Amino acid sequence: MLVSPALSEPPGTPGLRPLLRALPVFAGETPGFATAAAPAGPVDLFAAWLREAVEAGEPEPHAMTLATVDADGYPSARVLILKDVLPEAAGWQFAVQAGSPKGRDLAHRPYAALTFHWKALARQVRLRGPVTAEDAESAAADFRARGLPAHAAASLGRQSTPLTDPAARERELAAARERLARDPDAVPPEWTLYTLRAERVEFWQGRRDRDHVRLAYDRDGAAGWKRGRLWP
Ligand SMILES: Cc1cc2nc3c(=O)[nH]c(=O)nc-3n(C[C@H](O)[C@H](O)[C@H](O)COP(=O)(O)O)c2cc1C
Repeated sequence: MLVSPALSEPPGTPGLRPLLRALPVFAGETPGFATAAAPAGPVDLFAAWLREAVEAGEPEPHAMTLATVDADGYPSARVLILKDVLPEAAGWQFAVQAGSPKGRDLAHRPYAALTFHWKALARQVRLRGPVTAEDAESAAADFRARGLPAHAAASLGRQSTPLTDPAARERELAAARERLARDPDAVPPEWTLYTLRAERVEFWQGRRDRDHVRLAYDRDGAAGWKRGRLWP
């Protein structure tokens, strides 16, 4: 027997649908985006948008979602911190433990996507491209620039493996802190700085009237970029 959808209970989590429907989107500022005046390459525009996100008070504007796929093509995504952007290579840099799931994904398939979302300005930047590991010296410089609590935790490795004995981990953490106090320059061998060399970078400016403005840069030859608008 057919049941009218209006008479049946909605299938979702009780109360969640009206809550979701009532939430605003693009509630912050929605600046204009003069795509015709955009710079020739994406790094300058990215740097300008990142600075504007900082000025607009965006919390953690340097946080981005890194998407990878494993050897079987199964995707994963997680949030990481951006470390730098190399203007010559158009390379976005991040650092992780090589033995973590994302490190293993990148070892099998050295391609990734990054997404930034700056809510205060209704902006998104999406990029993708091949990823390479930088040398040990660059990884060490990145590691040493982090604070001691991060050092101690990262030096334990085993990220994302099951934590079956939290007390044992606390003891290991205390021992790691003592080791680092004696040798503050020690760098865990797993610590790796990666560079994603962007092949495509898309800038997305949201608008309340939903007439969003999108501009994509595609690598064109060794040094140049093609850029063009995308349908919203
Ligand atoms: C704001 C924020 C920043 C993060 N920054 C990093 C980072 O720079 N490096 C990192 O390895 N994990 C970072 N994480 C944790 C990752 O999202 C993730 O949980 C962890 O790296 C394990 O990922 P994996 O199991 O896919 O390897 C961050 C999480 C958040 C919410």
